[in-house]
Amino acid sequence: MSSPIVDLAERAAKPARLVVGLISGTSADAIDVAVCRFEGDRPRIELVVYHEHPHDPEVKRWLFEAAGLGIRRLAELNIKVGEAFAAACLITLAEAGIAADQVDYIGSHGQTVYHHSGMPGAKRATLQMGDGDVIAVATGLCVVSDFRARDIAAGGEGAPLSPIADAVMFASSQGEPRRAILNLGGIANLTILDAQLGCIGGFDLGPANAPLDRLAQPLSGGVLDCDQDGRFARAGVINRPLLESLLAEDAFLARRPPKSTGFEMYGDAFVEETAARHGGFDNDLMATLVEFVARAVARGLEWCADLDPPVGEVVAAGGGVRNGFLLERIAAAIDPVPLRISDELGVPADAREAIAFALLADMTLRGKTAPLPAITGARAPKVLGKISFP
Ligand SMILES: Nc1ncnc2c1ncn2[C@@H]1O[C@H](COP(=O)(O)OP(=O)(O)OP(=O)(O)O)[C@@H](O)[C@H]1O
Ligand SMILES: [Mg+2]
Repeated sequence: MSSPIVDLAERAAKPARLVVGLISGTSADAIDVAVCRFEGDRPRIELVVYHEHPHDPEVKRWLFEAAGLGIRRLAELNIKVGEAFAAACLITLAEAGIAADQVDYIGSHGQTVYHHSGMPGAKRATLQMGDGDVIAVATGLCVVSDFRARDIAAGGEGAPLSPIADAVMFASSQGEPRRAILNLGGIANLTILDAQLGCIGGFDLGPANAPLDRLAQPLSGGVLDCDQDGRFARAGVINRPLLESLLAEDAFLARRPPKSTGFEMYGDAFVEETAARHGGFDNDLMATLVEFVARAVARGLEWCADLDPPVGEVVAAGGGVRNGFLLERIAAAIDPVPLRISDELGVPADAREAIAFALLADMTLRGKTAPLPAITGARAPKVLGKISFP
């Protein structure tokens, strides 16, 4: 019987690999499953199938309450999320008519329940739920998971990691303008690409959907999880004094990259404090927060002002692309730099992150280091992730 290590090495060395990427982003809106075919070393990517699977309501509630869960619940959540990721993977494969043993391996990001704020005094630490061993045993496939831990161990921020994959997904050709990839998830982050060098940097910009989703709940009487297409915001009027003081006071926006952030800064407490200053929850507050997001994106681009050549286009991805009003405000804030949608470049905006973690697993198993110093501030490039065998 061949050793599982030898089998995995043989699969990783194949010219064409079928790899599944799994992630539930910071919003915990769904488990994203991307089945990808990679060909070659800096692989040509074919997205075979992409599906999003809603979380079980109880698991979702635990995820949002993770900070207050006892240690027993947290340990159980790690298993439950692993089981849910495995089920999402197996359902996607079955629906697509792909036998699990055709898949070479899985890259799983898991579900973040804690990521440090990056502010002075906050120890760099990050925690993802969704145990890789559970996924490996349930699917019968090798899993690479827990990608952020080694970066933190090497002195990095632990985030963002998807820029490493952006360099492969969104590489531009000679003569095309320099591209920046804008991910509008719970948090907004930016990848700066360079036609020759591949990825040259990436960092978190500030909030994206995190505060908007939290405000959408009271505005919709608890019915909506997000501001559908930005309808609440579009109906509101910006509270200018509040907007200007939020921008002036925000310590994260003022920080020089590399930097990363999370719900610790832009979650419930941020929305509640901002609502208190505004005088309640209403559409005007939504319009103000959308403008805050748009201006934070523009601020982030200012850190790239010295680049030669300058950023010539911004390509948006992530669920925020579905909020038409948010896109309009970002386009206005970054004008004259044009804003495009990643679908136009062949990467479905929703699927970008799941593809990214399939790519990161492929890099890991082919022994390639991630160029972390420019992105996360780690001391050296590292091979990322932990490997679980079925
Ligand atoms: N129709 C829509 N209108 C407005 N917003 C939408 C719509 N569809 C999705 N969204 C937003 O997109 C979010 C989900 O985006 P995405 O999955 O990229 O975020 P995420 O899972 O938090 O990822 P990340 O880890 O990058 O933060 C939802 O929480 C919601 O705010
Ligand atoms: Mg998501």
